[in-house]
Amino acid sequence: MNNPIIQNYIQQILPQYPPLTPKKPQGQGQAPVNIALSKYWGKRDCTLNLPTNSSLSISLPGLGTQTQLSWQPQATELKVSLNHQALESDAPFAIRLAQFLAYFKPAEQGHFAVHTLNTVPTAAGLASSASGYAALVLALDDLFNWQLPAQQLSLLARLGSGSAARSLFPGFALWHKGQNANGLDSFAEPIPTIWPEFCIGLLEINLSEKPTSSTAGMQQTVNHCPLYAAWPQKAEQDLAQIAQAIETQNFSDLGATAENNALTMHATMIATQPPILYWQAESVSAMHKIWALRKAGTEVYFTMDAGPNLKLLFLKQDWPKIQAEFPNAKLIEPFKPQA
Ligand code: PMV
Repeated sequence: MNNPIIQNYIQQILPQYPPLTPKKPQGQGQAPVNIALSKYWGKRDCTLNLPTNSSLSISLPGLGTQTQLSWQPQATELKVSLNHQALESDAPFAIRLAQFLAYFKPAEQGHFAVHTLNTVPTAAGLASSASGYAALVLALDDLFNWQLPAQQLSLLARLGSGSAARSLFPGFALWHKGQNANGLDSFAEPIPTIWPEFCIGLLEINLSEKPTSSTAGMQQTVNHCPLYAAWPQKAEQDLAQIAQAIETQNFSDLGATAENNALTMHATMIATQPPILYWQAESVSAMHKIWALRKAGTEVYFTMDAGPNLKLLFLKQDWPKIQAEFPNAKLIEPFKPQA
């Protein structure tokens, strides 16, 4: 059953909705994953996925999702393939997609077919849901020929996964938490700064499915962590500092603030009852190595999301030293033109 609150929200974005009519046989969308430098943790409204605090991210070109979407009037169920494999209709990913796509069905009879290719491991703390919902909304926009501006696409992507609001843009993006109960002011927009030396290193500790989804994790933290009350204000302060550091290209300030922001978010999870700890022993040894490198003069910082993997933050000139210490780290250059 579709929720009338969500239906009404979509209607504000798509004035002609419903009905919807496909304008071509197939819609296509492609979007990058993003890593938050100042994190989103906690919802003020679970139905519309409205966050407690604003957040700021960097998109990773070349890592993300490509989605093809078609409407099949004769189909008796939603067909979903993920990385060329057909999914059972009771697979968690297929269930989430079915719930989201139910709002965009052109008719009662018939179903969508969705083909999704992820160039990141699904649910490994690398935010494939962010690129996934952003790519899906772009594919819907293409199929129905809405030609929506990016801000409106961001409003729709947010319904699928909060962080998806930020995956519509390359480079740095800022997701405004918004204030209105109707959710129409909670969208992301790009920060148009180019910082060619700014690099991310992906340190994959464990790529298996995470035990607690971010949605469940944040709700538990909001409801059962005595430290959570301090988080929203701290997150807004960090965001302002990181935005300033981006503007002035002050890498030390950006790195130190982003690392502390991630550790503060994880501190709220750890202090939740029962505790939520995404870290593994290897995550902690990597942190110690990073702090030792920093003490020895190499400017490297880290951030972490709802998983055990670390994302290193550094400038290109330091890559040889970082690679020597972390031979398995994958170098991502967010501002390098893509081949
Ligand atoms: O968008 P979600 O519901 O998967 O939540 C993302 C939460 C974090 O990745 C931990 C933080 C963030 O801002 O991306």
